[in-house]
Amino acid sequence: MSFSLDTPINTALFLFILYSVQRIVFPSASATPKSTPREFKSGYSWMPKAHPPTVLFKTYTPKTLEPFNGKDNERILLAINGQVFDVTAGRNFYGPNGMYGNFAGRDASRGMAKQSFDLEMLTPLDQPLDKLQDLTQDEIDNMKGWIEHFTNKYIVCGRLVENNAL
Ligand code: HEM
Repeated sequence: MSFSLDTPINTALFLFILYSVQRIVFPSASATPKSTPREFKSGYSWMPKAHPPTVLFKTYTPKTLEPFNGKDNERILLAINGQVFDVTAGRNFYGPNGMYGNFAGRDASRGMAKQSFDLEMLTPLDQPLDKLQDLTQDEIDNMKGWIEHFTNKYIVCGRLVENNAL
């Protein structure tokens, strides 16, 4: 089978391929989006100005976790059973006016286990970590259920250790 430009359809196809190739090789300046496209269909034949921020797995103490409370810091973190989750995407829940704002920047283990966002669920920042030894099996299971929910929804970005462990 040979290719010939005799037929109009072949000529049209050939011109279209030529045009497509030159668009890829020499993208026009106006094709470069002004802001970072969020979807594939917005096009991505360009280099972003900088690498997107990466999440570093870090070790936190109750005191170093606290600033991530959604008020002092854009990022919102909370801990459950020693695992630190980045819940910034859940700002509606954990931001300053969020229903679960108490948990932001804190060890939320007891509150998650007991299904309560009362302030007394939180361990004071200068105290040792809550060992959760008085919890019932049901409460532990409830907390584990929340851990599963958080693991599926948010990024685990660290672990929580005692204030004097760093
Ligand atoms: C007044 C009773 C409550 C109502 C009406 C309520 C309502 C809700 C609603 C509508 C959601 C969103 C569900 C979704 O979109 O997936 C949610 C999520 C949640 N609720 Fe409650 N809730 C209540 C009590 C509590 C209590 C007492 C706790 C304490 C632990 C709690 C902890 C949570 C958590 C951790 C989430 C998940 C948020 C996330 O995905 O980041 N809720 N609740």
